[in-house]
Amino acid sequence: MAANFFKALLPGDLDAIVVYLRSVPPVRNAVAAPVYRGPVRREAFALADRGFSEADMQSKVRRGAYLATIGHCLECHTPVEEGALQFETALGAGGRPFLPSFVKGLPASWTGAVSRNLTGHPERGLGAWSDAEIKRAIGQGVGRDGRRLQEPMPFAWYAGIHDEDLDAMVAYLRTLPPLAR
Ligand code: HEC
Repeated sequence: MAANFFKALLPGDLDAIVVYLRSVPPVRNAVAAPVYRGPVRREAFALADRGFSEADMQSKVRRGAYLATIGHCLECHTPVEEGALQFETALGAGGRPFLPSFVKGLPASWTGAVSRNLTGHPERGLGAWSDAEIKRAIGQGVGRDGRRLQEPMPFAWYAGIHDEDLDAMVAYLRTLPPLAR
């Protein structure tokens, strides 16, 4: 539960989510109490802690930062070392492994994936990608070379993002300092 990212939600957007949830038809489903096999850690995500304002939405890069925050891209696209996401030193550098034991319910053919470097690094990151290529990866799950991106990259959830919002997200991603990891 990416609450360290979702705390960035502007009040109007949070209200809209609650209105939507209330519109979901009731379904009876007894859910077992959660079992925590490890400590629940939520490293502070600085952009969310600093927060956003309605005025920020007028700036393309700030709006993109907001959208990428509530889309919690960098939760997956930042390496984990000694059990902690390295937001301070390796923001967006990728390399976080996802194993079948972590992501349940996928076909047996899925053997895991490693998140990619989203920084501006020209070889390791998105530095040499066009805006259109980045937008296609986010919204359609197609890699630069045309391959289909694997789970858990949640492109199906991002498929409805409006084009101008994708442009803003790309503008923000382009501000991530290049990291060669
Ligand atoms: C739940 C984890 C998760 C989230 C959230 C996530 N991604 Fe990903 N993403 C991945 C993984 C894993 C891959 C690698 C998939 C593969 O190798 O096929 C990936 C691949 C990508 C790629 C392709 C990069 C390349 O070099 O091929 C881009 C671009 C990307 N993600 C951008 C984003 C953006 C932008 C967001 C937020 C809007 C986001 N991702 C959110 C896990 C995630």
